[in-house]
Amino acid sequence: MPGYTITQTDAAAARPTGHKRAFIIAGARGADGRGRDLYVRDGVLVDTAPPGAERLDADGLIVLPGLVDPHTHLREPGSTAAETLTSGTAAAARGGFTAVLAMPNTIPPTHGPAEVDWMVRRAVWTPARAQVVPVGAVTHERGGKQLADIEGMARRGVRVFSDDGFCVMDPRIMRQALATVALFDGVIAQHSQDERIAPPEACCPDEALAERLGLPVWPSVAESTIVARDVQLAAEAGAHLHVCHVSCPETVEIIRWAKKRGIRVTAEVTPHHLLLSTDKLATGDTTYRVNPPLRPAADIEVLRAALADGTIDMVGTDHAPHTAQVKNRPMPQARPGMTGLEQALGVVVETMVLSGRMTWTDVARVMSAAPAALAHLTTQGRPLFPGEPANLVLVDPARRHVVDRDDTASRSRNNPYHGRLLPDPVQLTMRGGMITYTRDARG
Ligand code: DOR
Repeated sequence: MPGYTITQTDAAAARPTGHKRAFIIAGARGADGRGRDLYVRDGVLVDTAPPGAERLDADGLIVLPGLVDPHTHLREPGSTAAETLTSGTAAAARGGFTAVLAMPNTIPPTHGPAEVDWMVRRAVWTPARAQVVPVGAVTHERGGKQLADIEGMARRGVRVFSDDGFCVMDPRIMRQALATVALFDGVIAQHSQDERIAPPEACCPDEALAERLGLPVWPSVAESTIVARDVQLAAEAGAHLHVCHVSCPETVEIIRWAKKRGIRVTAEVTPHHLLLSTDKLATGDTTYRVNPPLRPAADIEVLRAALADGTIDMVGTDHAPHTAQVKNRPMPQARPGMTGLEQALGVVVETMVLSGRMTWTDVARVMSAAPAALAHLTTQGRPLFPGEPANLVLVDPARRHVVDRDDTASRSRNNPYHGRLLPDPVQLTMRGGMITYTRDARG
């Protein structure tokens, strides 16, 4: 697009936010299993040990590129009782993330250049512990009626646009949005939910269970029919469609079909859809109310296989912090969403690595390189070579713990893994040569 300038979000990320030290990371293995020491100076990886460097003993640990979350709700501005940029990015750092894509369903929504500027500045002032990459809204006020100032936000470096929380229902608006982002190689990240089939109170995918519990049904066709429509629209526009939080086998089939035909579609799956099934809803605990809903065990198997075979490109947490106030309501009225940043890697290790479906190299792809590429980030998701930014996470592949929802940096407690034994892999997170989380300092 004429007049387009280099990404401001990257510029903000590169700006030093404090004192940087030199480090020797000794004894870690890379994702490929090869042992190597890493040297860090002035925020980048270098090829020789810097004089006076601090030594970080990483014997027995795996070093991965810093994780990137393509789907985080930071709730600021507007709902700071649930989360802020400070608390949300601290949770991100604890989860091994060095960058998060911040969804625009804030109050006000991120739907124009002014809101993008605010977010970028806020991340610097806070300062955020992970790079905050604003996602722009597709429509004004996320109202679904009129396009937001997509080009204006693109000039600020925004690459990904979504009305997440709501589906862009009107096919004419979706068609215009795709045609607009095609001009600058942007992405429309769709929350696929036909709200005429699955209205806002819909919460249970299983008809029998829904009837027993008196809950409105959220059938899988409400997701898959929107995806079927959108891949056709993306093909026509030559634009990149990203399917948020894929939850059902029908959607996986459509994405596979579209990819075979060369349609530019990528997709994400959440950690909770990889691990938790519909029966959780029967407990009546509204922590498990989420959009799209948790699906049956057979569907989970399909999602795991699709992530392993590349049909689903990446993991997105859909970290959706909520206060007890908006969760302590009858199931259909309880706000959908669950936290996810801190346990995301643990869930992926449990469901994909320990089960033998994926290697650590695959983990680096689906949790770092692929989401970084989605947002065109140039300083994230990079291989750990000299000259690259020191964005990395040290992982203990063997450590496990029982998740405690109160042991968190998030302001919210709607943690669906509370009380569950899971891998607890993150030992240290480094962003731009700064340690943003270390287990030793965990308070
Ligand atoms: O469960 C959800 N919660 N799904 C979404 O798509 C939005 C999110 C939120 O913002 O709370």
